[in-house]
Amino acid sequence: MKTLILYESIMGYTEKCAKYLFKKIEGCAIFDISSKDFNLDDYDKILIGAPLYIGEVEKITQKFIKKNKLKLLDKELGLFFSGMSRSEFHIAIQDSLPPNIFYHANIVHCGGVVEFSKLSWKDKRTIKRRLEIKESVYDEMLESLDELI
Ligand SMILES: Cc1cc2nc3c(=O)[nH]c(=O)nc-3n(C[C@H](O)[C@H](O)[C@H](O)COP(=O)(O)O)c2cc1C
Repeated sequence: MKTLILYESIMGYTEKCAKYLFKKIEGCAIFDISSKDFNLDDYDKILIGAPLYIGEVEKITQKFIKKNKLKLLDKELGLFFSGMSRSEFHIAIQDSLPPNIFYHANIVHCGGVVEFSKLSWKDKRTIKRRLEIKESVYDEMLESLDELI
């Protein structure tokens, strides 16, 4: 069974999660989801990762999943999402995905990382207000990804 890993990552943690899977799954392929260098038809199992920002899955990934919904429903599908809020995770994912994808996919929360020094003042303000985070947080949960292997 051929596996394709796709990811979107703004600050690098979701990319780290994707690379963790890449190292563990023999013979799989990995691409940034914005790349045009892969064809879904070539794979039987698809793993897609993205972060949550402001209560929803990052937009490029949402668009990709919606556009390729029928193909993805025909594959074994694993989704991994990073984010700092455990309480909002389920509702944010449900709101961001087409319902049949939400029920079809194996979905994993892989933790999250916020490095305060990398954020713009606007993002610092957003994350303070939304999530009450005022300093860097490293909530890495790479082992949770083993469920998708
Ligand atoms: C401006 C901003 C908004 C965020 N909003 C959310 C959110 O609504 N829910 C959540 O769970 N995490 C939120 N996060 C945390 C990110 O999802 C987390 O840092 C994630 O690991 C980032 O992944 P990346 O490094 O791949 O971009 C936010 C982070 C930032 C900087």
